[in-house]
Amino acid sequence: MALKILGIESSCDETAAAIVDSGGTILSSSVASQLAAHVKYGGVVPEIASREHGRAIVPVVRAAMSDAGLTWPDLSAIAVTVGPGLIGSLLVGATYAKALSYALKLPLIAVNHVEGHIHAVILQSPVQFPALALVVSGGHTHLFSVSEHFELKLLGKTRDDAAGEAFDKVGKLLGFGYPGGPLIDRLAPYGNPRAVRFPIAKLKGSALDFSFSGLKTAVLRWFEAQDMQEEVEERRKLVNPTLEDWLAATPQRTLDALASFQHTVVTELLSRARPSAEQIGARSMIVSGGVACNSGLRRAATELGLPIPIYFPSPALATDNAVMIAAAAIPKLQRGEVAGLDTPVYAQLPL
Ligand code: KG4
Ligand code: ZN
Repeated sequence: MALKILGIESSCDETAAAIVDSGGTILSSSVASQLAAHVKYGGVVPEIASREHGRAIVPVVRAAMSDAGLTWPDLSAIAVTVGPGLIGSLLVGATYAKALSYALKLPLIAVNHVEGHIHAVILQSPVQFPALALVVSGGHTHLFSVSEHFELKLLGKTRDDAAGEAFDKVGKLLGFGYPGGPLIDRLAPYGNPRAVRFPIAKLKGSALDFSFSGLKTAVLRWFEAQDMQEEVEERRKLVNPTLEDWLAATPQRTLDALASFQHTVVTELLSRARPSAEQIGARSMIVSGGVACNSGLRRAATELGLPIPIYFPSPALATDNAVMIAAAAIPKLQRGEVAGLDTPVYAQLPL
């Protein structure tokens, strides 16, 4: 009989619980977003995030259980994100998971959030190994080689900002609120991606590392040269804007800059795909994490013409969720990799 794993995720600003069985079937997925609590600060406030997780964790887990039509005795294991992430946020999920594990006498499985993003795709697609995995989110820009036993080897990563962070900082700077990524994605098709040539840093050392802070500074310089403070202030005043409202408040030069910025990020992200796929003899490529929702990235990835299939998660499994945590726990449970109740949480958790 298939084992049923309850996954819990609370590393950043989503409180999530999901149940996945050992055959890979998703039985439920519940996600409570804290966006409304953070939006007026233009980013995630760690203290607020911890409190919001504390409020949401019990209802979210209950929702996952009832949506799956399960009661506690039906569960086989509790999986939880132990890092990387915000310590106060991680502690809420991990402490709750430990309490459940102790009370129900179930194995506790500790999962790395980044590993979770990769397993979201492995769960949904017929991934061939070794696979090249590009994990791009608000906190991560990592390239891994993934073996058929799901062992990960880091090939490259960002030296400074994550790609999603760059989207969010540019969005905030230009008055598009938080998070900037999804909105820039929707506005970019209205601009010319070749109108502004934003430079990207050339790195010494690992050819497979990334850097996005120079690009962010280049956008800042462009902004300062345009004398557009008034335009930005007008956008900041918009209340619950529709796409049409955003477009009406955004002159063509700004749309061109957004399109050019997105084009630069996407080009940079994909520039490492071919050499790294060749280096590891990849038989497929995985792109995951919140930025994997980006339509420009999806289009450009398929247009790359790599001789291997490229798999993206469905949008619901690209951004933070707990299905990916339960999915990453399946092989660990099968290998008997059980964590103790003294397992810590980690702000940084290298793989
Ligand atoms: O994976 P995720 O939910 O959380 C982290 O682990 O960080 O990713 C959130 C990030 C944010 O930076 C957000 O702006 C970005 O993913 N994002 C996007 C899109 N959707 C989400 N960036 C670009 N285009 C999108 N469509
Ligand atoms: Zn994430």
